[in-house]
Amino acid sequence: GMKKKNANVIVIGLDNSGKSTILNKLKPEESKRHDIVPTIGFNVEKFMTKALSFTAFDMSGQGRYRNLWEHYYRECHGIIFVLDSSDKIRMSVAKDELNMLLNHADIVSRRLPILFFANKMDLRDALSSVKCSNMLEVEKIRDKPWHICASNAHTGEGLEEGVNWLTDQLK
Ligand code: GTP
Repeated sequence: GMKKKNANVIVIGLDNSGKSTILNKLKPEESKRHDIVPTIGFNVEKFMTKALSFTAFDMSGQGRYRNLWEHYYRECHGIIFVLDSSDKIRMSVAKDELNMLLNHADIVSRRLPILFFANKMDLRDALSSVKCSNMLEVEKIRDKPWHICASNAHTGEGLEEGVNWLTDQLK
């Protein structure tokens, strides 16, 4: 069949937010991993939607690896920013990382779509996606299209809505 257009996305967010679990859920059955371990550095993953073939840079969220994120900004067409919606204590750290991203020279003047997953919606003390976007002041982003979805990376709830939005932005 016709080869789908490729889109590069960088998948960022704090350690333990669920980035690798989300990507694993999006991948085709035959390439899924059975054990998700904390990412060292980064991994490159592939997944498809109806209209696009995605190459995803799954970056480690651990503090000592966050300086790697910026090396992939230039070649990315879109951003997936994953939040652990149950981790209220570190929401301000996530906000600082988001602001550093938005002010970065390779990001600041580009109209890159940003998809936020307010992940771990299944946990009892998870904040709603609206509450997460308020805490990160996402509404202040005026020069880039953005979208936030509550998600559960274990069941896949919310993931399709998010990647369909991103596909519409990039196709
Ligand atoms: P780093 O590689 O360290 O940056 O972490 P990561 O963001 O890739 O997180 P990872 O996918 O390794 O998930 C961290 C932990 O959260 C694992 O134990 C996952 O099973 C768990 N997890 C991921 N998504 C969800 C979710 O939606 N709900 C719940 N309850 N747990 C989740």
